[in-house]
Amino acid sequence: MTAGMRIAIDGPAAAGKSTIAKLVAKKLGYTYIDTGAMYRAITYKVLQSAIDLRNEEEITRLIAQTEIELQPDEQVQKVLLDGIEVTDAIRSHEVTTNVSAIAALTSVRDLLVAKQQNLAAESSVVMDGRDIGTAVLPEAELKIFMTASVEERAERRLLEEQKRGMKSDYETLKREISERDRADSERKISPLKKAEDAITIDTTGKTIEEVTNSIVEYAEKRLAQ
Ligand code: CDP
Ligand code: CDP
Repeated sequence: MTAGMRIAIDGPAAAGKSTIAKLVAKKLGYTYIDTGAMYRAITYKVLQSAIDLRNEEEITRLIAQTEIELQPDEQVQKVLLDGIEVTDAIRSHEVTTNVSAIAALTSVRDLLVAKQQNLAAESSVVMDGRDIGTAVLPEAELKIFMTASVEERAERRLLEEQKRGMKSDYETLKREISERDRADSERKISPLKKAEDAITIDTTGKTIEEVTNSIVEYAEKRLAQ
């Protein structure tokens, strides 16, 4: 493994964060942590329970005993919720349209941020999300803010969902992505925001390989400093 560091990758929906974070982690021999999957898993559990999404007290009680495990896998990172695999279930349309509301709750963020910080204390990590460089790992050695035009992000998500057999359409996805970005950027606690010391990478028109290589180069430069 390359000598240790923490790499934080933040940015709006479908910018390529998780795809690229996973590849960067593989190249450097680091652990990849998809924090969005954690917020999705909690949202899935709340939706299954039929608790009102605004009832923070009940939600806090429900999630107190929740176990979320991220298991590395060649293709997709497996997500286990209370021991049951929910990798595909947390990508459903219902979870996607409700996750920002759940992620805005203080108790949910407190629980997951602590869990993410513990994971980063155990090994070198590439962690992607919305608040990694600003709140979860403010001391990360390398911070990337990844963006792309909303049109390209909607096209990428459309292709991805079609491959998974979902019936999605471009205009709906574009609207939902914009709405989720707005909710994530405007929430009170740890909104989606570029950390002052983050490097912005606009991935519009760039291949996965190009973006991966440029982040690995930044990491190697930091390690050599
Ligand atoms: O993959 P995609 O961009 O669709 O989203 P995600 O990374 O799976 O994150 C799902 C949602 O979780 C986001 O829209 C945020 O509301 C929330 N999230 C967050 O609040 N903080 C993070 N560090 C990661 C995700
Ligand atoms: O994690 P985030 O929501 O930021 O994005 P993602 O789920 O990693 O990427 C969304 C889709 O865009 C995936 O299907 C990637 O294969 C694709 N992608 C791409 O086509 N070109 C890039 N430079 C990055 C991602």
